[in-house]
Amino acid sequence: MTQQSISENHYAVQSIAQRKHGGGVGKGERSHQKHEAIRRFLHRQIPVLAKRGRGLIIDMHAGDGRETPHIQPDFFAGGALITTPHLAIVAARKWGADVWLCEKSHGPRVALIAAHGHEATVLRNHNTLDLRLAEIAAAPWVIVLNDPNGHSQHGVETMREIARANPCSDFIVVVNCGSLKRHLAVGKSDNTGNEFALSVEAAKERYSWMLEPEAWAQQLFKRQHVATEPMYLSNEMTAQVVLCSNWIAGYGK
Ligand SMILES: C[S@@+](CC[C@H](N)C(=O)[O-])C[C@H]1O[C@@H](n2cnc3c(N)ncnc32)[C@H](O)[C@@H]1O
Repeated sequence: MTQQSISENHYAVQSIAQRKHGGGVGKGERSHQKHEAIRRFLHRQIPVLAKRGRGLIIDMHAGDGRETPHIQPDFFAGGALITTPHLAIVAARKWGADVWLCEKSHGPRVALIAAHGHEATVLRNHNTLDLRLAEIAAAPWVIVLNDPNGHSQHGVETMREIARANPCSDFIVVVNCGSLKRHLAVGKSDNTGNEFALSVEAAKERYSWMLEPEAWAQQLFKRQHVATEPMYLSNEMTAQVVLCSNWIAGYGK
């Protein structure tokens, strides 16, 4: 697919109702800010990793792969949201890597196959990555994109398995700290031991570590991490983009 034909995929920014019914799930006028952070992290790591040979880029939440036009923030910037499948494919073309795109919803998956099926493997759920750990282990390097990590059922254990299978694995995780904080603040425990109070306590125990970028590095067995500031993108999404790796190019600068 050429750059031109990817650009022909434009469609309008979607309403919340439209997003809930597939299509451009989670894409908004400001989403390009988080994608720019993902792009910078990818391009920071891959030139060095690629010296090890042909690697593997896994997008755990690919969506439909279609671009979304965004508002023009200033005179020079404007244009369209470049989605994570597109970012993965452009990087793979440039530096040499296989691309696996995971998408569990049927409609978006069909769109993804149509747009990118000829140069990427499309998987129906990221939980099927468990069956491919031998291939993951054999790759000279792996980069995993998890955008967004919605904290519940968004594949933390799968990421840990990938990290165990291949120590040369980097993770770029987009934490929706807005929705996570909302979830954790839903109610305060009143120490009465009632069911609601217990479920709030359980959620806190299970998810509150996700607000700390350093904890992501620990969970994924990595020595280093860098993270953006949380970016307010919409009422549904405040995104913090976290890169975890054993070796980060220019770390500490
Ligand atoms: C917000 S969209 C992803 C957006 C995409 N990263 C982009 O840049 O356009 C999240 C997608 O993850 C998919 N998803 C959620 N759980 C999944 C799973 N277990 N395996 C594969 N896809 C999943 C949803 O169907 C949805 O299309």
